[in-house]
Amino acid sequence: MKILRGTAQANPNIAIVKYWGKRDEKLILPFNSSISVTLDEKLKTISTVAFSEKFKEDEVYIIYKGTLKKLETKEELEKILPQLEVIRKIAKTNLRAKVVSKSFLPIATGLASSSAALCATALAAASALKLKLNKKELSILSRLGSGSACRSMFGGFVLWEKGTNEDGSDSFAYQFKNENFWKDFRILICIIEEREKKIKSRKGMQQTVATSVLFRKRIEMLPYIIEKTKKAILEKDHRTLFEIAMKESNNLHAVLLDTWPPIIYLKDLSKNVIEEILKFNQDGIKAAYTFDAGPNPVIFTLKKYVPPLKLILKKLKIKNIIVSKVGGGAKVLKDCHLIDKEGRIILNF
Ligand code: DP6
Repeated sequence: MKILRGTAQANPNIAIVKYWGKRDEKLILPFNSSISVTLDEKLKTISTVAFSEKFKEDEVYIIYKGTLKKLETKEELEKILPQLEVIRKIAKTNLRAKVVSKSFLPIATGLASSSAALCATALAAASALKLKLNKKELSILSRLGSGSACRSMFGGFVLWEKGTNEDGSDSFAYQFKNENFWKDFRILICIIEEREKKIKSRKGMQQTVATSVLFRKRIEMLPYIIEKTKKAILEKDHRTLFEIAMKESNNLHAVLLDTWPPIIYLKDLSKNVIEEILKFNQDGIKAAYTFDAGPNPVIFTLKKYVPPLKLILKKLKIKNIIVSKVGGGAKVLKDCHLIDKEGRIILNF
């Protein structure tokens, strides 16, 4: 029985202006536009999607640090299954899929691993079924798995336009500056906790939309922040950009605290990092902290400030730090499939 395979690689992205809150849960349409920077290949996810009559049902596996895990619960599968359904619809096929994703980032720690994974699966599935989709369509397909994934289709600095159409046709990401634009821009990923977060973004967002008054204010304010952020990036004005990034992260976490029941992702160590970065910036802004839906700090800075920042983090006993440059967009890989021609998983390729 024939097996149609496709493999793709995508890098995670970190939002500078965060996406939080959906105006449409099913189509994953956001209340606000967001801006991100794509990380480099160190933190990539590689996904192979195979379609065949051989497969009786969709099966999804992840490989992390050499171990294979099958995703079984409804919660674990809630992102990928709707994406596969849409792909089958476009390709006019009923074939079931086997999906294998190999991640180089801890999963579900609020470190944007799903952005890379759902982007890579969208591209891999489209490649397996030989769909001729452009980048905009692929971004939309990624979005249908996980909102932030639509930004990982592109490298560099990326804007996800929230769009206004009910069918989501104008809600996709595009690159406004590529990965070579800001050569000395650096992103420090600090892993202080590898455990899965208690409240997943999806659930947390619903709670916020339903209960937070501050959230409404945030949505009103964000179009202006988006414009300011874009301008700061285009002018490589790191001081303005870093200040916006810190305020934006604070704003998101203030909204999270305003949510009922309150959502608290930051830990004592996260707050210590905030204090240390503020101290480091006393004589001029040289770095920004930002936090997504988890306690792990991400720091935006410039190359020359990486050594002093590493020292500061070391003093806080943070050992697991990954330094990333601005990375490229998702791409199809021709020869490193994670599933062989018979449909078997290849653990070490
Ligand atoms: C805090 O994209 O993971 O990282 O669309 O429900 O899958 P779903 O959510 P997801 O949320 C990301 C939230 C964030 C901010 C951001 O990346 O913009």
